[in-house]
Amino acid sequence: MERKAGNMKDVKIEQRIDALLSRMTLEEKAGQLHQAGGSLVGAFDMTIGDIFTMVEDGRMTREEAHKLLSESKRDWQEEDLRAGRIGSYIGITSAEEMNRLQHIAVEESRLGIPVFNGFDVIHGFRTITPIPLAESCAWEPALWERTARMSAEEASSAGIHMTFSPMVDVSKDPRWGRIAESAGEEALLNGLYGEAKVKGYQTEDLTRHDALAACVKHFAAYGAAEGGRDYNRVDMSPQRLEEEYLPSYERAVKAGAWAVMPAFNDISGVPCSVNRKLLTDILRRRWGFEGMTISDANAIAECINHGIAADRQDAARQALNAGMDMDMTSGCFLENLKTLVENGAVSVETLDEAVRHVLRLKFALGLFDDPYRSSAAQERAAMLTPAHRALAREAAQKSMVLLKNEGVLPLEKHMCVGLAGKLAFDGDEMSGTWAGFVKPGDCVSLSDAMHGASIAFVPVTEDMLPECDVFLCAVGEHKEESGEAASRARLELNETDLALLRRLRESGRPVIAVVFAGRPLCLGPVVEAADAILMAWHPGVEAGNAILDLLYGRVNPSAKLTAGFPVTTGQCPTLYYDHIMTGRPAGKFKFTSKYLDSPVEPLFPFGFGLSYTSFHYSDISAVQTEDGIHAEISVDNAGDWAGDEIVQCYFRDPVARRVRPVRKLAAFSKITLQPGESRRLSFEIPFQMLGYYDQDMHFCVDDGQIEIFIGGNVWDTEKADVILTRGE
Ligand code: NOJ
Repeated sequence: MERKAGNMKDVKIEQRIDALLSRMTLEEKAGQLHQAGGSLVGAFDMTIGDIFTMVEDGRMTREEAHKLLSESKRDWQEEDLRAGRIGSYIGITSAEEMNRLQHIAVEESRLGIPVFNGFDVIHGFRTITPIPLAESCAWEPALWERTARMSAEEASSAGIHMTFSPMVDVSKDPRWGRIAESAGEEALLNGLYGEAKVKGYQTEDLTRHDALAACVKHFAAYGAAEGGRDYNRVDMSPQRLEEEYLPSYERAVKAGAWAVMPAFNDISGVPCSVNRKLLTDILRRRWGFEGMTISDANAIAECINHGIAADRQDAARQALNAGMDMDMTSGCFLENLKTLVENGAVSVETLDEAVRHVLRLKFALGLFDDPYRSSAAQERAAMLTPAHRALAREAAQKSMVLLKNEGVLPLEKHMCVGLAGKLAFDGDEMSGTWAGFVKPGDCVSLSDAMHGASIAFVPVTEDMLPECDVFLCAVGEHKEESGEAASRARLELNETDLALLRRLRESGRPVIAVVFAGRPLCLGPVVEAADAILMAWHPGVEAGNAILDLLYGRVNPSAKLTAGFPVTTGQCPTLYYDHIMTGRPAGKFKFTSKYLDSPVEPLFPFGFGLSYTSFHYSDISAVQTEDGIHAEISVDNAGDWAGDEIVQCYFRDPVARRVRPVRKLAAFSKITLQPGESRRLSFEIPFQMLGYYDQDMHFCVDDGQIEIFIGGNVWDTEKADVILTRGE
């Protein structure tokens, strides 16, 4: 990708920025770079962090904390706003509140510079759609864009101008709780996911009242945290960083995202918040990014904990000089930038450049000419409308992966269902992580949906198995078990769920497992105990309805995994699909790269997912063209159901100057085929995509053999060879 990021500069606006900069004091400049959060007010003296700690150590229940947080008033530090010490807010969720504060900024501060407001709108605002990992399993950029558009319409009407999304962190380790927020283990998919989200949030015109500025995060390689432990170190070769991790951010940035959030982690010893190579050399110089960077929450101050900054002032100095523009909530910039400029540790040009990026975004959002844009958005938007629910349902249908089906699905409506597992009755669990604005009762549980569809069911109780034709058993993770700060060292299903499944199995009647989770789990025992498995993830507000659509065959399952499922946690990071070959690849012989007590391959591979029909692949061909490789394959629907198939095209470079992955996804195509219908598909793989970095970090594309694989999942493919003869 040699293209540079979108041109965000407009001569007239740059002149207005120059004029403003010439009038601003150092304090006001520092103020523009400070993002403030609201502190809680009330009859207690507690921060939001204290509340989380109390939940963790059991002094407060989650429900109590939720009530407290949603009912307590926030102090938005109006005095600071009036004095020009706040450049933006995080966490305002009402247009009235936003406009009240905007009036203070515009009418009562000396220069009248408007503020903007950011919020984590990750997979929907009020209309919660499937978690990103789930939605990625649809392999459908147009869907990703439509759900982003819906989120933006709702969120903008609640006074929000920026969403801290998309997250495009390639995640190869399911122990990491934030894999839920990603598009899985694959770089191209994460990039396409990010690109679609950016387009959906921002539209072509950020001044639109229903547009949100997108913030691409977490730059970079946050998903590679060692041991899958959140916030942990990332240490990798520059080649690997370039080939496997940076491309997704690059694509999302070049789609025109207006903001980028550096990650909490360090890369090879340099925290991203103070990483000049990342924030300036790569992001600005190489990719041409002209928007603003914003730290992760408190991350600048945390450079002291990293042991890279001596104190808050040192942290502020390093971050600003590295290319950080805005400080999310730590206060280090606000407190220290004036002094740092005065004593020469930071140049006024560097400070001005950061302020320029922030002001440029405010102009792009139209806030200088239209500061109360949230009111107009509020008038137009409606939340959780039937149309929004319909889109959430479609997204959920397209996200759930059918992992096993031994002839029991689809179900027939007359069958009596024994419904088991607490998650089947708990709608509020369906939203998954990062759903800050969803309300109790918004999500349709499985049991709600069965009531709604008049399907006869009997709940399974602890002491008795009811008479029924089939058991439907909900198992898996609660929403708090994935997401930020939710890494797990055990991905095996919990004992209660396993015991329940086994009890049902002993009845001799068919068992269907519906798995809710924010990550791949170790489902071996579920495969043994259930006749069918639907991986439902955390599906959002239309959870129950979408599950029934699939189980009863109103919709044919089509989703495919974007991250492999481990056999056991000890395999993590799982043998991800694009692993490299060792000198002793796993085999029967003892001295090969494997485990004594577990298979080495994942239980379900990348790209895997079943349908009620079956697709047959034949006649693969591949040739070199002027620009790369042209490959073709025929796919036909050999079953009785119309269905969607996600056709995946991979390549491998078998002899190269550095060891290369065993498979690399080059392209895919999602098609619909009627029973008996056949289609010939073609894929173009540009030379650039076949390239890699050699030992000296030179990008190269080799002549010689390239293997092409096309099929329905990474290990179920047809193969063709091409001999590249470019003579370079
Ligand atoms: C911390 C998370 O890492 C980031 O993803 C999020 O956007 C910020 N907090 C703000 O909530």
